[in-house]
Amino acid sequence: MRKPLIAGNWKMFKTTAEAEAFAVEFKELYHGTDVGAAICAPFTQLLALKKAFEGTDVKLGAQNMHFEDEGAFTGEVSAGMLKEIGVDYCIIGHSERRQYFAETDETVNKKIIKAFSAGITPIMCIGEVLEERDAGKAFEVVKKQLEGGLLGISAGLAAKLVIAYEPVWAIGTGRNATPQQANEMCAFIRKLLEEMYTGEVSDEVVIQYGGSVKPANATDIMNMEEIDGALVGGASLKAKDFMEIINF
Ligand code: 13P
Repeated sequence: MRKPLIAGNWKMFKTTAEAEAFAVEFKELYHGTDVGAAICAPFTQLLALKKAFEGTDVKLGAQNMHFEDEGAFTGEVSAGMLKEIGVDYCIIGHSERRQYFAETDETVNKKIIKAFSAGITPIMCIGEVLEERDAGKAFEVVKKQLEGGLLGISAGLAAKLVIAYEPVWAIGTGRNATPQQANEMCAFIRKLLEEMYTGEVSDEVVIQYGGSVKPANATDIMNMEEIDGALVGGASLKAKDFMEIINF
């Protein structure tokens, strides 16, 4: 049975000193949880956080990686490098990377394959932009992203995936999808996974919602049948807020 995962996506926020201060505050508040908790931090903060969270079950995630093992790719970091320092998860294909760094379903697919081969669990992000939702194309767009991103991925690996449904219009806008809208899309994703693989696979995949999740709306979102957790941006930067979401 799948276990929900609440992951913080710090984006390009926090210095190492700030990350360490967060960890001190967070550990004072954290006494374990039935859901999984993870922080996806900038590369330069990962090692410090790994040390800071030693002895706890808080997992560590990166926000991006390259799909090759090594090579002349200035500025990039490989899955093996992340694994070496104890990274558990990697966000792949976040809408900000698709928008500002030209990521496509094809690069997302290559990264997912590489993450799995390095022993890192991908948190695959999919979601439509506002114009697509308004044009009634949200489901079509999400289907294309899901199928493109998972091309050639075996059922055995797909079952280990984390998928984050993040409608782009709800990210950082304060305008979250209603729990019903989020649940409807997560149910649609699970149905697609069943068609692409099997019911057993689709039952295993953790499907998160992301987009303006905060303490005030976490309970309503987390109580939805098809939603197995959250990918939290802004509200994960404050230890107290993130903890409230984990304890929804
Ligand atoms: P916010 O929670 O700040 O809307 O960000 C969501 C997000 O992009 C998580 O990956």
